[in-house]
Amino acid sequence: MTGSEFYQQLIETEAQLMEWAEQFSKLISAPCQIHFEGNLGAGKTTLVRGIMRGLGYSGLVQSPTYTLIEPYEIKSAMVYHLDLYRLGNAEELEYLGIRDIDADKAICFIEWPEKGKGFLPAVDLVIKLEADQHTRLLGMSSVSSKGSHIITQLKRALD
Ligand SMILES: Nc1ncnc2c1ncn2[C@@H]1O[C@H](COP(=O)(O)OP(=O)(O)OP(=O)(O)O)[C@@H](O)[C@H]1O
Ligand SMILES: [Mg+2]
Repeated sequence: MTGSEFYQQLIETEAQLMEWAEQFSKLISAPCQIHFEGNLGAGKTTLVRGIMRGLGYSGLVQSPTYTLIEPYEIKSAMVYHLDLYRLGNAEELEYLGIRDIDADKAICFIEWPEKGKGFLPAVDLVIKLEADQHTRLLGMSSVSSKGSHIITQLKRALD
């Protein structure tokens, strides 16, 4: 059973999102699959950048708008940041090397996951951002027991 947990947080500024990302990053470890939903400009890449910082990555984290898959090596794992907005169809993921990702050992952050439906590893958490000016409503749902555990821990940490 993978009882679904839900978490929601109103974020007032980009700086506050970065603080949130720092806290959240402490709770994730490989293997972990996180999907990011939200309109263009909602802040998905900004949030991934903050999580990467929190995971100890000090290099540049650019949006994988054109490369679609961007790999990073951190101390504890391989991290893959995907942005599938420009993917023509999900089968193209095969040519982009989706099979080279060892999902059992990696952390994946995937923007626009619906474009890769059927070709992506099983997801643990879905994070959705809704934007209004500088404010963001962040919602998170778990899709696996690992995901539920992370949300439980997050609620405890932020209490
Ligand atoms: N509170 C906030 N949280 C996140 N981003 C914010 C916030 N306020 C303003 N912004 C701005 O909103 C923009 C978010 O862009 P970002 O590239 O992260 O969006 P995205 O969801 O990844 O879009 P895309 O679907 O095009 O990849 C950035 O320019 C960022 O500076
Ligand atoms: Mg983006």
